Amino acid sequence: MNIRKLLIGFQAFAVAWLLIMPLQVFASDRHFRDARVFIDTLRSISKGQQAFRHDTFGDEVFWTDRLRLHEAIAGESLGGVGPGVDPATALAVGLKVDVKALPKRLQRALKRGEVDLTDPATTIALLQLDAVVGVKGEVTDSGRLESIGITCALCHSTVDDSFTSGIGRRLDGWANRDLDVGVIISLAPDLSAFTDLLNVDEQTVRTVLTSWGPGKFDASLLLDGKAFRPDGGSAAVLIPPAFGLAGINLHTWTGWGSITHWNAFVATLEMGGQGTLYDPRLNDFDKFPIAAVNGFGDVRPEQDRVTPKLGVLQQYQLALKAPKAPRGSYNKDAANRGKRVFEQQGDCARCHVPPLFSEPGWNLHSPEEIGIDDFQARRGPEDSYRTAPLKGLWTHSKGGFYHDGRFATLMDVVEHYDTTFNLLLSQDAKSDLVEYLKSL
Ligand code: HEC
Ligand code: HEC
Repeated sequence: MNIRKLLIGFQAFAVAWLLIMPLQVFASDRHFRDARVFIDTLRSISKGQQAFRHDTFGDEVFWTDRLRLHEAIAGESLGGVGPGVDPATALAVGLKVDVKALPKRLQRALKRGEVDLTDPATTIALLQLDAVVGVKGEVTDSGRLESIGITCALCHSTVDDSFTSGIGRRLDGWANRDLDVGVIISLAPDLSAFTDLLNVDEQTVRTVLTSWGPGKFDASLLLDGKAFRPDGGSAAVLIPPAFGLAGINLHTWTGWGSITHWNAFVATLEMGGQGTLYDPRLNDFDKFPIAAVNGFGDVRPEQDRVTPKLGVLQQYQLALKAPKAPRGSYNKDAANRGKRVFEQQGDCARCHVPPLFSEPGWNLHSPEEIGIDDFQARRGPEDSYRTAPLKGLWTHSKGGFYHDGRFATLMDVVEHYDTTFNLLLSQDAKSDLVEYLKSL
């Protein structure tokens, strides 16, 4: 839905209301103030949407100046290095194209198969149209890619595939579980940003980045330098949705903080944007050796492009509701029975309290409480796991469940709880419970 249009409509309505109502003498001041609040809120949400989709917060400093990723995208024939990234490759690593940004003529040409998807120049043309979700490119008139930056939408938006696979209308807040962030970063000609901080060679960095896999990212790598779990698996975690978060206390898998804490953190430390960040927990040398040595707990740039956006960004995320499960995607009767299992025998609602499906209040648990290892929990500030909000689960079943996707299916999750809590659920109760989870 187009918030801008809605906003304009709302404002037009407000203006009409002011004009038609000479009777306003009878209306009290309070009504004007009430209307003002709604208009201001809509305006903030619209600005937040803009920031979420399009703002790089100046992170070109990282992606362009440091990694020189723009050169890898352009390729040698267009003034960069290597073969370049053509649209087919871009789609294959999970990047998405916003069909609304494509002129009708281009859409028709695409449909007829007349657009060369194996030419990096096409990628640059798409960047010029601002059509690649979450990626901002600066392109000169002569078609040279001058810089590249990323936005929140890169990881937390996908498209509805309405045009074709990977091309469609934006779905903000959805986790992009196709996106292989590690592979994308590993294309960069200069990985010294990683080798310097981690004190390892380039080959090691590439091995780590390519170990993440689709839908995953490791936000703690450059804080603690841990790249692999004790069992040898990747230390990366799944990209969670950024919708359905209103009412939830702590965010991220390990409960780093509020939405706005995490937004400042991500924009500044992960995206490489120009922002202020104060989080003295990062000075804990034992836990975050790299962050502590490099002063990541107190970042003060000359120009702060993040802080002024935090309010509207937060309002936008709070406004994003978890989408309803499509009709026919689950068995209704079974889901109704499953709801009872969830609330009674399964004891799920003790932690996943409806309708938030996380705890009102302090929503963290020790690893023992949920019967799993403490590796990822101990990489966070609270040695805990946050009760995952379950609404919209159906949108992110790709990549598995729990922070690292250790459970491939919802049935695996249910079996885990059945064993851990000794629930003695019958096979029917388990499958009913799964149908209920699919319906949320
Ligand atoms: C490179 C991919 C990437 C980008 C870019 C990114 N995020 Fe995230 N985001 C993640 C991952 C991965 C996590 C989970 C981190 C964890 O738990 O360790 C996360 C967690 C979150 C959460 C917590 C969700 C929850 O369930 O509590 C929110 C909110 C969020 N991000 C918002 C944003 C916003 C806003 C931006 C832009 C300022 C942004 N993210 C940029 C990958 C990304
Ligand atoms: C003691 C609190 C607690 C109880 C009881 C509990 N959960 Fe959870 N649940 C959690 C936590 C914490 C996580 C996050 C685990 C992680 O980060 O790896 C979670 C994660 C999940 C997930 C994965 C969500 C995702 O995004 O991957 C599902 C599904 C789930 N729980 C369903 C259930 C069901 C069904 C029950 C009842 C049989 C249940 N939970 C009982 C705390 C609980």
